[in-house]
Parts: sequence; structure tokens; C-alpha cells
Amino acid sequence: MDKHAVKLAPSILAADFARLGEQVVAAEQAGADRIHVDIMDGHFVPNISMGVPIVQSLRRVTRLPLELHLMISDPDFFLEPFTEAGSDVFLVHWEGNNHLHRTVHRVKALGKRVGVAINPATPVGVLEEILPDVDQVLVMTVNPGFGHQPFLHTTLPKIRRVHQMIAQSKPGCDLEVDGGIDAATAPLVVTAGANVLVAGSSIFNASEGVAAAIKQLQATITAQGSRAPYWRGWPQP
Ligand code: DX5
Ligand code: ZN
Repeated sequence: MDKHAVKLAPSILAADFARLGEQVVAAEQAGADRIHVDIMDGHFVPNISMGVPIVQSLRRVTRLPLELHLMISDPDFFLEPFTEAGSDVFLVHWEGNNHLHRTVHRVKALGKRVGVAINPATPVGVLEEILPDVDQVLVMTVNPGFGHQPFLHTTLPKIRRVHQMIAQSKPGCDLEVDGGIDAATAPLVVTAGANVLVAGSSIFNASEGVAAAIKQLQATITAQGSRAPYWRGWPQP
């Protein structure tokens, strides 16, 4: 993989919501590339997280791209409100969506980047027909719904297979991983081919603080190659 383009996407699910703005600013100043926002409805996953007002507030405090990981049963209902709130990217799940192609193209019609997410037990073959239409693939490295879960090492061969698929049919498509990413697992997923790493608790729950945690993750990544600057080819919010 191109180790020169690994990006970090801090997941605010693990942030201290009483200090959310401050922590997101710290992440941006420390060199985060995008902010990952986990939207959960208590139905698609057994947890409830946040909605439109949080995205509006985030938009006021950062210029980083806001990527929304939609873990909700009816993503199409919420694409426009989240777009108006200031989101830049939508990550939608293959699971439970009978009309994924329609959802993907609704996001594109709104002028936003779109990615498809797959759960640990979902085979990579489901991506084959939709891959030409997306900007990102998100391989879940835990079962979605909660932060601070242990990384599932069985997903590593799967990341390699998605990397090969992207190289063959959609060069330039981001390969993102989400769940259990820390200084120990980041090198494994980068070696497997991931170029965007979501990290929640290893950044926002780090005893040394947000900035130091990001620097440590970056150091782990750059030990394998040098990082590219963020915003490559992205529209400014
Ligand atoms: C889980 C979420 C993740 C979560 C990752 O459903 O999609 O983004 O915040 O948290 P950590 O990095 O703590 O595993
Ligand atoms: Zn997520």
C-alpha cells in the first residue's frame, strides 16, 4: 500500500462531551485529518449516541472534514439534515440496506463524499458492484455499536483483500478501518493496506491527553513511511 498517505480520523464517541469543542480543537491542532462522528439510533446497533445538533456544533469549532458513520436503520431519512448541519462525508452500512445503490447516489447528489461500511462477518464480495461508485470503504474491525472494544485480528486478511480489490478496480478509494485502533494495532492495519485509521478511546481516553495520543499514533504510522498532508483533493467546508 501507499504508506505515504495514512490519515487519522479521531472518533468523538470516546470524547468528554462536556469538553467536546475543546477536545476537537486539540485534535485538529495535533494534526488529525478528519473528525469521525458515530451516529447510532438504538435500532441498527444496540446503543444511542448523537444527532444533528452535535454536528452543527462541531461545524462551528473545526474546519476539518466531518465524516458521519451512520449506524442507523434508515440512513436516507437523515442525509439532508446532516448535510445542512455541515457534514462532509457519509459512511453507510451495507448491512440492512436493501437499496444501497440508491443511498450512495443520494449522498453523491448532495455533493458529499460517500463510503460503504461492512461489519466483521460480512464478506468483501458484497463491495464488488458498489465499489466503482464510492470514495471510501470502511472495514469494521470491531462489531459496531460501542467504543473501546478489542481489535478483531481476524479482520486483517479481509483488509488485505479489500486493498487488492481497490487496487484493481478503484485506485484512489480510501480504505478505512474502525475499532480497536491504537499504537499496537495501527501498524498491523497499515501493513494490511488501510490508509485511514479511526481511533476513539486511544485518543480521547489517553491519560497523556489528546494531542500527545495523536502524536504517538502518528509516530507509529510514520515509522512505516511518511504521511501526506491532509485535504488532498477535498472541498473546503
Ligand atoms: C464503533 C464505532 C467506532 C468507535 C471506535 O461502533 O464505529 O468509531 O468509536 O472506538 P475505539 O477506537 O475506542 O474502538
Ligand atoms: Zn465509527
